[in-house]
Amino acid sequence: MSEISGMNVQELVSQFGTPLFVYDESALRQKLHDFTTCFQSQIFATRVVYASKAFNCKAMIDLIGEYGCGLDVVSGGELYTALKTGFDPSLIWFHGNNKTPAEIQMALDAKVGTFVIDNEMEAEEVLEQIKEKETEIDVLFRVNPGIEAHTHQYVVTGHVDSKFGFSLLEKDVIFDTAKKLQASGKIHVRGIHAHIGSQIFDKQAYVELVRKMFAFAKELHDKGFDVTDINLGGGFGAYYTSEDHPVPVKEVCDTILRTCEEENSRTGGFIRQILIEPGRSIVAEAGYTLYTVGYLKQTPNKTYAFVDGGMSDNIRPALYQAKYDAYIAGKENLLSEINYTIAGKCCESGDILIENIALPKAEKGDILVMKTTGAYGYSMASHYNKLPFPAVVFVNEGKARTVIERESYEHMTELEKQEERS
Ligand SMILES: Cc1ncc(COP(=O)(O)O)c(C=O)c1O
Repeated sequence: MSEISGMNVQELVSQFGTPLFVYDESALRQKLHDFTTCFQSQIFATRVVYASKAFNCKAMIDLIGEYGCGLDVVSGGELYTALKTGFDPSLIWFHGNNKTPAEIQMALDAKVGTFVIDNEMEAEEVLEQIKEKETEIDVLFRVNPGIEAHTHQYVVTGHVDSKFGFSLLEKDVIFDTAKKLQASGKIHVRGIHAHIGSQIFDKQAYVELVRKMFAFAKELHDKGFDVTDINLGGGFGAYYTSEDHPVPVKEVCDTILRTCEEENSRTGGFIRQILIEPGRSIVAEAGYTLYTVGYLKQTPNKTYAFVDGGMSDNIRPALYQAKYDAYIAGKENLLSEINYTIAGKCCESGDILIENIALPKAEKGDILVMKTTGAYGYSMASHYNKLPFPAVVFVNEGKARTVIERESYEHMTELEKQEERS
């Protein structure tokens, strides 16, 4: 019997329909527990800041609050959702390379705790706006430490051309900008932030990052800035297929914190707080997408199984050839004798969810369960071909609750205007 957190998959489909995002709530809780208990140090205050771009909705943000984590938001929409849940704004880190004036105003009015400053012009905008306000904020500078890490490798580059952050090759720009912000009396330069990639399986990349960040923090400290915080971003790997070998949470947290402790004593011991920003590694593996298999089609070289969703609810395979594993509910014990191409229903040849997966013989009406879809699936969904957004349910110990309703055709069209016909 196919189950997710004690709930039968067929029952989920009868109750909620397909396509359907299902999160195993106990798996989400386990990850939050692992990160918050493993990311602890005798020397530093620590904070796990959930990168909500991976999956942002009210129920998820409530869980984040329950575990005492911070929240990374990058837009007015992500911020609005957090504020709607009553999330403590002092525990919000506001990111983004092009925060609009309206978003900056919204964040200042909401008393968001920390702005992560991405470029000089943004700093000017914040400076201009804060003059008129009672509020005070902390800032971190997003820097490019020149380390790019993806899966099994990392490379050290000059990294001058990224759209994100200040290059460490232009330190004077950071010093000048920091001086201007600090001079306002309302903006406190607390430290630096970096995010070096995604699906990082090589913990040495974080060791390298920590060393570079402490070295630059020391330069800021020596220039007279009271820097206390280093935020090392996210990028921790998740398990999608047997090709992936994520570093266990405890191991990566220990590696980071022990290196921070070493670097801190080497550089003078002024850093007081270390932060990380996991997104994918908290939500990816807890998520599943349930699809109904529609038609099957044989071509000379492929056997297609078409499903009732596709790139509209999961753009990752089309966008960067992301790989997934899947099974057919109720057929787990049958022989996987056919190599299928799982294709969505969107009008794009590239709308392929899984290329070449061995499964038992599929039939119309089967439920295909795609695994590890909890990160950057729903949050990157589109209305392409006017497909409504799927529903999202959390399942825990045999009980399911809707956390996002399925969108209807009425929802999708309610903002559209039509000229009156006489
Ligand atoms: C600034 C920042 N922090 C954290 C993350 C989360 O990364 P991940 O989901 O790979 O952990 C991202 C992802 O793009 C990011 O840009």
